[in-house]
Amino acid sequence: MHAAIYPGSFDPVTFGHLDIINRAAEMFDEVIVSVLDNCNKTPLFSVEERVNILKKATEDIPNIRVESFSGLLIDYAKSIDVNIAIRGLRAITDFEYELQIAQTNKLLSGGALDTIFLTTSLEYAYLSSSGVKEIAYFNGDISKCVPDFVADMVYEKYRHKNDKRG
Ligand code: PNS
Repeated sequence: MHAAIYPGSFDPVTFGHLDIINRAAEMFDEVIVSVLDNCNKTPLFSVEERVNILKKATEDIPNIRVESFSGLLIDYAKSIDVNIAIRGLRAITDFEYELQIAQTNKLLSGGALDTIFLTTSLEYAYLSSSGVKEIAYFNGDISKCVPDFVADMVYEKYRHKNDKRG
């Protein structure tokens, strides 16, 4: 059984992530989409919300599992007995950061964890979760960036936040 982990923050999942998920699902028997539960960051969506969003967004792909993890990726990967991580590469600007993480993970895991990069489809090359959040914050149109139900949830979050600000 050939499985791979696709780790990330997914706050929220975008069409760019879903493009990577779809393509990875064709290459591996199982792809475990793993949401990082990082208490240092203050995400828009809780880990539970992000896991549920991802489950709904990938419900038509049979060989996808969605989980969350905290701590180091190498420890999580070892705990579920998977030794391949998938990451999407958008532009050249992603490369140095991604290479650093991949090399560190390879070193820390004693060579066990390899990272495979998929280049994002060109139409999604400039899409990012933080960009989506900024557009939504200012009430812009994110319908080309995320599935409709995700867009509704993002707008809803900002509506509440703005209500609280008064
Ligand atoms: O979607 P993101 O925020 O770019 O994903 C980054 C992620 C989750 C892949 C990375 O931050 C990660 O794996 N964090 C877990 C902690 C860890 O293992 N750090 C060591 C890598 S240098």
